[in-house]
Amino acid sequence: MTTLRFLGISGSLRAGSFNTFALRAARELAPEQVSIELADISGIPLYNDDVRIAGMPPSVVALQSAIAAADAVIIATPEYNFSVSGVLKNAIDWISRTDPQPFRDKPVGIIGASMGMAGTARAQYDLRKSFLFLDAHVLNKPEIMIAAAHTRFDAEGRLTDEATRGFLKAMLVALRDWTLRLRNSATISV
Ligand code: FNR
Repeated sequence: MTTLRFLGISGSLRAGSFNTFALRAARELAPEQVSIELADISGIPLYNDDVRIAGMPPSVVALQSAIAAADAVIIATPEYNFSVSGVLKNAIDWISRTDPQPFRDKPVGIIGASMGMAGTARAQYDLRKSFLFLDAHVLNKPEIMIAAAHTRFDAEGRLTDEATRGFLKAMLVALRDWTLRLRNSATISV
């Protein structure tokens, strides 16, 4: 049976991040055939084209390799001022300048958790725009917008809300099937 490796990227660096907790929950809820590892983007510097020209930072190269090696990527985005966090956008900007650009043709699932009632919806639609430019294949649905996140995780960061656990699991199954479908269509076209 095919085993698929998903890479989770959290757009928040803080230890108590609900988005990182959501990825940990995804790891725990991973369906059959799927394993999930989490990336660490805390070492990525602020984007500076002079730095890029001088030499791609090792932290960016490491993320590029991890994305390239993954069968699919799951992004957990916070919502900052109605959009994507700077940390996440910065990482995506760096990756967009690597060659080969590893998001091209990559299946991507987007989730997000916020304390507000929109559950990162506005940030997620901005993120979809970036992935349009990067030629990724973003899963359409189910969308996972975890609103009022502070009520859905316990003090240890465990996702305790049963409904959200169910939605997340359904999304992971859909991302697995989307990944397999894209893989099969690539085989047919060659
Ligand atoms: C926020 N927060 C927030 N929430 C929201 O629903 N919509 C928003 O536009 C914003 N804007 C915003 C800006 C900044 C600078 C911060 C620090 C926070 C609240 C945000 O949802 C909350 O802090 C989350 O807990 C952030 O995600 P992590 O760090 O828990 O993953």
